[in-house]
Amino acid sequence: MAHGAFEQTYAAAEDRYEHLAYRRAGASGLDLPPLSLGLWQKFGTDYPPRTQREIILRAFDLGIAHFDNADRYGPPHRAAQQVFGAVLAKDLAPYRDELVLSTKAGNPIGPSPYLKGGSRKSLLNSLDHSLRDLRTDYVDVFYHHRPDPTVPIEETVGALASAVQQGKALYVGVSNYDPEQAHEAAVLLREAGVPLLVHQPRYSIFDRTPERSGLLDLAARDGFGLVVYSPLAQGLLTDKYLEDIPAGARAENSAFLKPDQIDAAYRERAAALNDLAKDRGQSLAQLALQWVLRRPEVTSALIGASSTWQLDHNAKALDFPDLTDDELEHIDEHGVHGTGLGI
Ligand SMILES: NC(=O)c1ccc[n+]([C@@H]2O[C@H](COP(=O)([O-])OP(=O)(O)OC[C@H]3O[C@@H](n4cnc5c(N)ncnc54)[C@H](OP(=O)(O)O)[C@@H]3O)[C@@H](O)[C@H]2O)c1
Repeated sequence: MAHGAFEQTYAAAEDRYEHLAYRRAGASGLDLPPLSLGLWQKFGTDYPPRTQREIILRAFDLGIAHFDNADRYGPPHRAAQQVFGAVLAKDLAPYRDELVLSTKAGNPIGPSPYLKGGSRKSLLNSLDHSLRDLRTDYVDVFYHHRPDPTVPIEETVGALASAVQQGKALYVGVSNYDPEQAHEAAVLLREAGVPLLVHQPRYSIFDRTPERSGLLDLAARDGFGLVVYSPLAQGLLTDKYLEDIPAGARAENSAFLKPDQIDAAYRERAAALNDLAKDRGQSLAQLALQWVLRRPEVTSALIGASSTWQLDHNAKALDFPDLTDDELEHIDEHGVHGTGLGI
């Protein structure tokens, strides 16, 4: 079927909503898939474009209709959004209403004071640029990427609210805010008539910060959902590093996961968790995803993928029985906060 100037070669799988049970984001009216796909790593000029397109389309075929982006993702910065924009134009345009597209601004993408931070200038300029890169006239969720204590929170939150009032975003979110900052943002946004939809923190068996800081409890109280990133601890919570570092894996080729993070303590704990997963008939990756999603405050686990195999495999994470109290205790014993993460 022809769509616009392009030959439409992609047709979405008809059974795409039969794999994953969507979850409500906090007290909002929006449902999100339990797994969302992020384009942080391996969506840029350093990975085959054909594979990137296949991963995006497979995600949608599996019912993963929420795609998480940022002006910063690449390499180089902005490249991931351009990749997504090309796939949207070529393949996904007929399905735009079925997509939840997120973008973020405020993490530095250049030396200019207007290419970082939480000012109104930085955030709204970035959003306009992202809309051009994504080739869409609105995003579904616009996030402030990380707190900027040098800017009054009223200004940052005001810029997020303006994005919605201008029709450039449907909802807003914050990321990497501590509970106090998140609560302040939630209160101000509620007053502005643009409730905080979601918060994006890092959370996994090896990073318990949202439990320790009280963010999980705050999310329930303030009515926002959590879209938790790096639930596989960038691959550490899979079986791939139990023996060695496989060729092409993130620990081999990324600035964000280094070979020395894979030490003896990591291997011992990951092996114990892997044994537990095997006893349950699942993989460590599936166990790790099921574990973050055991909490109702967590709306979606935001995963990365470097192959369609990983997506197919991870999408089965919720096909297993709930974790028992004994299993959760066992996970706590071996899932020591900070393992492999240097925190
Ligand atoms: N807000 C923020 O500040 C922030 C920060 C970081 C991330 N994020 C968001 O969160 C998203 C996900 O982060 P992440 O990529 O760190 O998440 P992750 O799900 O913890 O790690 C994903 C990586 O693990 C490996 N992997 C996935 N499934 C696997 C499997 N079944 N077996 C073996 N290896 C597997 C792949 O890496 P390889 O195959 O390449 O080794 C994959 O790219 C990002 O894309 C971004 O959207 C947000």
